[in-house]
Amino acid sequence: MDLLGLLRKRKSIRTYTDAPVTDEHIGKILQAALLAPSSRAFYPAEFIVVRDREMLSRLAMTKAGGSAMLKEAGAAVVVIGDSKKSDAWIEDCSICLTNMMLQAAEMGIGSCWSQIRNRASSEENVTADEYLHTLLDIPEQYSVEAILSLGFPDVDPGEKELPDTDSPKVHYGRF
Ligand SMILES: Cc1cc2nc3c(=O)[nH]c(=O)nc-3n(C[C@H](O)[C@H](O)[C@H](O)COP(=O)(O)O)c2cc1C
Repeated sequence: MDLLGLLRKRKSIRTYTDAPVTDEHIGKILQAALLAPSSRAFYPAEFIVVRDREMLSRLAMTKAGGSAMLKEAGAAVVVIGDSKKSDAWIEDCSICLTNMMLQAAEMGIGSCWSQIRNRASSEENVTADEYLHTLLDIPEQYSVEAILSLGFPDVDPGEKELPDTDSPKVHYGRF
C-alpha cells in the first residue's frame, strides 16, 4: 500500500475486538515512534506501554469524556515529553503519535489519540496530566501529551475519500 492509501485507511477507532495486539505489533509501533524526526535531535518523547487490563481500565477513567475507549483496547501507549530537554516536546510527541497511528493502521490495528495535555481529569481539581503522573509514577519533568489506544476494529472502518486539493484550506502563493 502506498502512503496515501495508508493515510486514507487510518481513522480514529474507538471500539475493538478481543483479537490480541501482540508484542510484535507493539514492537513495530514503537519502532515507528522512535523513527520520528525531532527538533534539534533532542528526542524528548518517551513511551509507556500499558497492557494490563486493570491499568487500561484506570486509563479509561482519566477523563470524563474522550478516554473511555481505553477500557476495551488491547493496549495503549502513553506518550510523555521531557519539557526540560526540548521546547518542541509537543511537536515531537505529536509526530511520534502520528507515526504510531500509521504503523498501527498498516497492520490493520485501529488506534485513537486521547488528548491529555491541557485537559481536566474526571477527578475534581485534578488535571489529566496530574492523574496520569500519579497513576503511572511519571517523574515531574515529563508532561503527558496523549494516550494512544490500540486494538483491532470491531467493524470494518472503510477508508477516506482521496481529498481534492482544490480546497478552501489550501492557499497558493499567498492567503
Ligand atoms: C490532537 C488530537 C486530540 C484528540 N483527542 C481525542 C480525544 O481526547 N478523544 C477521542 O476520542 N478522540 C480524540 N482525537 C481523535 C479525533 O476526534 C479524530 O482524529 C477526528 O474526529 C477525525 O477523525 P479521524 O481520526 O478518523 O480522521 C484527537 C485527535 C487529535 C489529532
